[in-house]
Amino acid sequence: MRKNIVAGNWKMNLDADEASQFALNFIKHKSSFPEDVDVIVCPPAVHLQDLADVFYDFNIGVGGQNCSVHSSGAYTGEISAGILKSVGASYVILGHSERREYFNESATQLAEKIKQALENKLIPIFCCGEPLSVRKENSHVAYVKQQLDEVFGELSQAQISQLIIAYEPIWAIGTGETASPQQAQEIHHEIRKVLNNYIGENADEISILYGGSVKPNNAKELFSEADIDGALVGGASLNPEDFLAIIKSF
Ligand code: 13P
Repeated sequence: MRKNIVAGNWKMNLDADEASQFALNFIKHKSSFPEDVDVIVCPPAVHLQDLADVFYDFNIGVGGQNCSVHSSGAYTGEISAGILKSVGASYVILGHSERREYFNESATQLAEKIKQALENKLIPIFCCGEPLSVRKENSHVAYVKQQLDEVFGELSQAQISQLIIAYEPIWAIGTGETASPQQAQEIHHEIRKVLNNYIGENADEISILYGGSVKPNNAKELFSEADIDGALVGGASLNPEDFLAIIKSF
């Protein structure tokens, strides 16, 4: 059975005081989390160790938002997968559209990052998703398939089988506009078919998360779709009550 997962991507938000305030507020509610949902928080990397320490006893995972293509060395400003692991991360978001767009991350680099993550026992949350212009042309399925093929082509079956996938249409990120459950289900189903091409029946075990303006008032409908196994939440993950309400929407 594939896992239900709700992951929060804090992006470049919350300073140290705000992060610890979030953690203290959030763990107060842990007893009301549904048993069958894995909860993950991906803060700015400098908060990972503190959050990992607080969340460990509550079975809440933490993850990075990026890692280097290199394992170590003279790469000023970079953070390796091994270093993320050493401060308590179990996951890392890779290929977020903001990294692809603002930092020009290529498919080849993303495949390398996935390998680095897996070698260091981090589970990659690998993102894909089309811009508005592509959606308007109705070529979103082909676009996302290509994003997956470019990276999966560089990976082994064993590596692909360990991924979490996040579909995040760029036009729905931070805009308040969400893909409808039907729009999201359509493409999640296509993503699972692509996975099936590479890893056969194991595709059924891969969690595919939806991201893009997920809020307490739309999560339940999204999660009721067959191929939507959870969410990668941006803005609403900064507020413990909203994040909790999304987790409880399963
Ligand atoms: P929002 O939930 O703020 O739209 O962000 C989505 C996202 O980019 C998560 O990675």
